[in-house]
Amino acid sequence: MRLPRSVRDADVAGKTVLVRADLNVPLEEGRIADDTRIRASLPTLRLLLDNGASEVRVCSHLGRPKTEEDRARYAIAPVAARLAELVGDDRVHVLENTRFNPGETKNDEGFARELAEGCDLYVDDAFGSAHRAHSSTEAVARLLPAYAGLLLLEELEHLGALLGDVERPFVLISGGAKVEDKLGVLRNLGGRAETVLIGGKMAEELRAHNPLDFGVELPSDVVGAAEFAEDAESGTFAVEEIPDGWLGLDIGPETRERFAAAIAPAKTIFWNGPMGVFEWPAFAHGTKAVAEAVAGADAFSVVGGADSIRALNELGLLDRVSWASTGGGAALELLEGKELPGVAVIPSA
Ligand code: 3PG
Ligand code: MG
Repeated sequence: MRLPRSVRDADVAGKTVLVRADLNVPLEEGRIADDTRIRASLPTLRLLLDNGASEVRVCSHLGRPKTEEDRARYAIAPVAARLAELVGDDRVHVLENTRFNPGETKNDEGFARELAEGCDLYVDDAFGSAHRAHSSTEAVARLLPAYAGLLLLEELEHLGALLGDVERPFVLISGGAKVEDKLGVLRNLGGRAETVLIGGKMAEELRAHNPLDFGVELPSDVVGAAEFAEDAESGTFAVEEIPDGWLGLDIGPETRERFAAAIAPAKTIFWNGPMGVFEWPAFAHGTKAVAEAVAGADAFSVVGGADSIRALNELGLLDRVSWASTGGGAALELLEGKELPGVAVIPSA
């Protein structure tokens, strides 16, 4: 895989640097629910400061603002405050949510010029947004000397390793609800894996119709619920015996064991997406079992998607995987074999 040139090779002393970070963090009632992405942006900012940058302007989108009210809801202020607290250097400034400008998502050059104004170079560290050709990720990189940040490079190296020769057995685990988004990765990587384990909503769809040209392992039993509710009446059933009208909200105990046994000997793992509705404790056992198996394997393990990472985090297992990606859609598109516009626009090393 082609790697863009690194911020380590940029001469930043005395310069004003525009940094595109992905500070698009989940918010709950105006508060930051998880600051992982803010923390992940720190190494690049510290490098720039250590190397003598005179000013670092950080920009990011936050949410998908559409209406006037969204301007209050998605104001960058709480994110900027958290970043300031973590970085503790007044050479760093955070610009307002890039998506407040209607040009941003159109990759408008006029808005890119506004961003570039007064800056000497551009560093893209927003891996999570690299699949978007927007003014702050693409157009602006054509206006200033452009470099890749440390997080962006690390993401490309770890995820990219899955596209090359991997140590075997290679086990791919997929779940969650966004089936369409994940089929592309299965198509591109699944045929190269020894084992493909599928849970969650994906499993139901692939059981009804498997458009892939290789076999996948599906759940043999499920935790069923009488309705879609956290406290629903529930029970364990063989897949073909779920009562009429009940919903399968997690993989069952037999499947948990089978999946964990398949993961244990793996030397390479990619996991994206929960096995069930893991936000509800009664339906979290499958996702937990997979998280424990992935963390316990003596393998190069890469995990993508906010839900899988949250599950690992809650179990205190996040540092037991080789790489937890900060990108959702971007990681999937990369593993689908697509070129990411935010990466393509940066010159090679
Ligand atoms: C993400 O969280 O997936 C990235 O920040 C990109 O956000 P978007 O899907 O709204 O473009
Ligand atoms: Mg997204």
